[in-house]
Amino acid sequence: MHKFVKWGLVGLSIPIGSLLLGATWLNLNISQRLAKDYNTTTVHWNHSETGDLQIGERIVRVRNGCIDCHGNNLAGAKIMDNPAMGKMYGSNLTPASLKDWSDTEIARAIRHGIGRDGKPLVLMPSHDYINFSESDLKAVIAYLRSIPAVTQDNGPIALGPVAKVLLVTGKAATLVPAEIINHQQPFLNKPAEAPTIAFGKYLAQTACIGCHGPELKGGPIPGGPPDWPEASNLTQQNLGPWNKEAFVTAMRKGTTPDGRTLRAPMPIPLTAKMDDTELNALWLYLKTL
Ligand code: HEC
Ligand code: HEC
Repeated sequence: MHKFVKWGLVGLSIPIGSLLLGATWLNLNISQRLAKDYNTTTVHWNHSETGDLQIGERIVRVRNGCIDCHGNNLAGAKIMDNPAMGKMYGSNLTPASLKDWSDTEIARAIRHGIGRDGKPLVLMPSHDYINFSESDLKAVIAYLRSIPAVTQDNGPIALGPVAKVLLVTGKAATLVPAEIINHQQPFLNKPAEAPTIAFGKYLAQTACIGCHGPELKGGPIPGGPPDWPEASNLTQQNLGPWNKEAFVTAMRKGTTPDGRTLRAPMPIPLTAKMDDTELNALWLYLKTL
């Protein structure tokens, strides 16, 4: 072989080699994180109380967007399926799938983002649901136990290369919520469901911070695909000039005072169903930010 060609090939093999090494390290890093055992985490609660079915239905279908990812019949739905981000489906939550799970196992999945096998769940926004009160968590489980069983297999989750790079570079920490949750956090107390700042704060902590950020200042949505718009700033810095009517119109109709139509993933089909108590409470709380 001509010397020049030979050295050229050696030179080329170095970047290709480091690329392969990089990809191997990436896959190893992620498979270790997804195989981590969280079995020592459990939910300590008062087993005697039973969940309120109506509140459970409201949380699952309106307030907390479970149907967005788990489907209208809760048998599972596609969240993303593309070569860059991978294949992510919300699992089947009907009794066909969860009948053999204990209440504590379901509660741990919702509140801590940990599957029945003790491994972390992907994309399931438990960093919001860790803020559920004990009574709300019970209500959700009671509701899930009451819905019709639907047999549907959604297949395992497979992360694509972009999702893996985002995860390893810390740009999408919420893809694996179990890693960022404070598993020791005690149950929050739920304020009475009334148009108060306290109830508004409770709703925002369990339903809005996942996209709008822990301080509701907005920004890129962690774990979201690159084509999603940034979540808006919900503090007075942005909403200062709004009045309550403008807020209610934005939540129910998806339009803003300056004439914008709010784009997905802002869940307008769900927030449109929020009642006056919920919207008044949220508005009163947002005015304090
Ligand atoms: C942003 C999408 C999203 C939302 C919203 C969401 N989930 Fe999930 N959930 C998922 C995904 C994805 C999985 C599967 C994760 C995996 O297999 O690693 C999952 C898994 C679960 C599991 C474990 C089931 C199993 O078979 O492993 C339960 C229970 C669950 N979700 C309940 C809920 C409830 C209740 C709500 C609403 C309060 C909710 N989820 C909202 C995406 C979501
Ligand atoms: C799944 C992610 C997601 C969730 C959950 C979510 N939002 Fe949003 N929200 C967005 C995105 C993205 C935008 C920006 C849409 C756009 O620019 O077209 C937005 C925009 C808004 C706006 C418009 C403000 C403006 O000037 O642009 C309001 C008001 C709002 N959200 C309130 C809420 C409240 C209150 C909650 C909780 C009950 C909530 N959102 C939950 C993603 C979300």
